[in-house]
Amino acid sequence: MKNEVSGVRGIFCFPSFPVAVACVKENPMTLAAVNFFSFNPPMVGIGIMDNRYSYELIREVGDFTLNLPYVDQLDVTHYIGTVSGRDVDKFKETGLTPVKGKHVSSSWIKEFPVSMECKLVYTLDLKGSHVWFIGTVLTAYVEETYDRSQTISYWGNQYRRTGEELAIMKIEGDGKNAKAVGLTRKIE
Ligand SMILES: Cc1cc2nc3c(=O)[nH]c(=O)nc-3n(C[C@H](O)[C@H](O)[C@H](O)COP(=O)(O)O)c2cc1C
Repeated sequence: MKNEVSGVRGIFCFPSFPVAVACVKENPMTLAAVNFFSFNPPMVGIGIMDNRYSYELIREVGDFTLNLPYVDQLDVTHYIGTVSGRDVDKFKETGLTPVKGKHVSSSWIKEFPVSMECKLVYTLDLKGSHVWFIGTVLTAYVEETYDRSQTISYWGNQYRRTGEELAIMKIEGDGKNAKAVGLTRKIE
């Protein structure tokens, strides 16, 4: 039997939200409101509440970087999500290294395994809790040994390691024509 609950409780039943760190100018901020919006062109969106310092900065500069941390970077990732750039220099406090973007004015984070430079193309203010900033990914940097299973997922008040492999899909075709044509189970 399913119980009727509030809409927001429904949203919190999503299997996972990725934990990412956006950086606007030289100020990083932790995010769980993050998603891709298009593969071609590559577009991602980040949801930022309007009382964040990052919100002011992104409106000012019109770009951001998106960085994905590993589970062993959990403490620093959590810290970045608990203090404001209005009060502290988060790069100085954490010892993380900002790298100047090639195509954007914002810096990316050297120590994290994945970073993307994004140009803001669309701002979606639904007058709700988060304003969505959607950007084109102009370039991305991925560590050669990147292991997605070691990234962090957010479950309300819990952090979790992402993923156990259940099955591999065989996909044929690209883009709108991509189709899953087979499935190999790893775990029954
Ligand atoms: C795990 C985690 C996820 C968070 N997700 C978001 C989010 O999606 N959007 C948001 O506006 N704030 C989010 N926050 C809170 C901000 O990271 C926090 O308010 C931060 O201090 C803002 O920094 P700033 O003032 O320098 O921009 C999250 C914090 C944590 C710890």
